[in-house]
Amino acid sequence: MDCHSDRSDNTFWQHLIVDRTTRALLKSQRPRILWFTGLSGAGKTTIANHVDMLLCASGKHTFILDGDNLRHGLNQDLGFTIADRIENIRRTAHVAKLMADAGLIVVVCLISPYRQERRMARDLMEPGEFVEIFVDTPLEICAERDPKGLYKKAYAGEIRNFTGVDEVYECPVSPELHLRTVGTTPIDLATQIVAHLDLA
Ligand code: ADX
Repeated sequence: MDCHSDRSDNTFWQHLIVDRTTRALLKSQRPRILWFTGLSGAGKTTIANHVDMLLCASGKHTFILDGDNLRHGLNQDLGFTIADRIENIRRTAHVAKLMADAGLIVVVCLISPYRQERRMARDLMEPGEFVEIFVDTPLEICAERDPKGLYKKAYAGEIRNFTGVDEVYECPVSPELHLRTVGTTPIDLATQIVAHLDLA
């Protein structure tokens, strides 16, 4: 008998007395998830770090969840098959939601190549609290920059299932922000993002 098969049937949602609203009020902010999606090397982490610095400088309480970093800990058991990426996105979305419940503005940097999973993440939040930011850098530019040398390996067939090379990236259809990165700077883009957010 599988003694774990009824695990979720026998667990109950526990009501917490200090709730999300109280925690957010203490921080004088409305929780948000700023979800950066785009190809590897598009500039998600760089721009997100600038956004984080600007928000911290204006007294906001934030935290960055970065795909590469999470894959060293919480998600270290996951690879890059479709199923593993779906699980990677699901876990990250739920951690982000918990952090938002703690009152934080959560900055997520994840390739998150699938529309359906980004929709799943959005649906965890209240309307207006999920901000999808498409970091739009053409594949050729990402491959040219190749900051980690991974495109070179992917084109040489040394890495399989590489996003944009032999695995899909589904562009957002109607993101809150669509950033074309060519010809601008990360700090300019970060300033635009912060200006767009109504974080009062
Ligand atoms: S996601 O597709 O599951 O959202 P995630 O953002 O966590 O991806 O991780 C992407 C990072 O993993 C890339 O920036 C790159 O450094 C590294 N990586 C290693 N293998 C791959 C691969 N096959 N496809 C994409 N990124 C990869």
